[in-house]
Amino acid sequence: KQGLRIGICGHGTVGGGTFNLLRSKASEIKRRVGMDLEVVHVATRRPSAELKASGVHYSTDVFEVARNPEVDLVVELIGGFEPALELVLYAIENGKHVVTANKALIAVHGNTIFEAARKKGVVVAYESAVAGGIPIIKALREGLAANSIQWLAGIINGTSNFILTEMGERKRDFPEVLKEAQELGYAEADPTFDVEGIDAAHKLTILAANAFGIALEFDRVYTEGISHITTADISYAEELGYRIKHLGITRVTDAGVELRVHPTLISENTLIANVHGVMNAVVVKGDSAGSTLYYGAGAGAEATASSVVADIIDIARTWRESRTQATIPPLAFNKLRNDLRI
Ligand code: HSE
Repeated sequence: KQGLRIGICGHGTVGGGTFNLLRSKASEIKRRVGMDLEVVHVATRRPSAELKASGVHYSTDVFEVARNPEVDLVVELIGGFEPALELVLYAIENGKHVVTANKALIAVHGNTIFEAARKKGVVVAYESAVAGGIPIIKALREGLAANSIQWLAGIINGTSNFILTEMGERKRDFPEVLKEAQELGYAEADPTFDVEGIDAAHKLTILAANAFGIALEFDRVYTEGISHITTADISYAEELGYRIKHLGITRVTDAGVELRVHPTLISENTLIANVHGVMNAVVVKGDSAGSTLYYGAGAGAEATASSVVADIIDIARTWRESRTQATIPPLAFNKLRNDLRI
């Protein structure tokens, strides 16, 4: 067996970006990982010119990818709950590793998915689900693994930050900027997820689970979006030396872990107040490392594909090492702690 064989479900903004990145970086990735990462099957109803010209097999049925014996790893980039949940569970059942960018799916159904993956000894990785190109999940799981996290806060919806920036700096109207965010491929299929804070709540749920080792409990996030913010609100805030930013905040309190997303007034002198456009930024406060800040593109085809491909490379490395072992240790999730509740 030569290399890791990949099946990609979905060929939209992120799916197309991932397909193109895997192909354009194929030889560099091969050098880095020591084997080929080959896309062998794509499921899409709208094949791109690149896909058609590539000679890679494509079909319309995502479940065909998940049961294809030629596929070792399924990349779920169709988004939404149905049929994404069924697809991911079916892929796991068939012994495939899974990479997904689907924050809604992980935030709402992650506990079920990780349990299924644990039983089957496969990996489910989701770096791209939070903050696009910023490796924030890896930072929490690996870089800050020695810390007790006290709190984290950040701009985790690129569309909202893009809208607030354009409304503030160029006095543009909300609907017009939202339309542009959709055209640029930043917004969710249903943009109310962006502007009502739901997407940020999904991401915060995932961040808190990784930071604190708690279960995923999306239903308990206090969720407020930016749809009621006006250019007048932004101007008044500016007069007082503040910016309005849509933040996700989670912290440990005596009563448990608090999770909330809402527009926030932040002093214009802070780093996070100066995060503009589609960029995201997350500050994490750990007890040993102190505060660390992660900044980068929060949405868009290339940045998100960067995180999808990073997960594929991670799994490929483990897969390669494990070929002499009986099973691959699941690294899907931190061990849950029982002493902290949301
Ligand atoms: N709609 C999301 C955002 C895409 O604007 O942040 C990236 O998760």
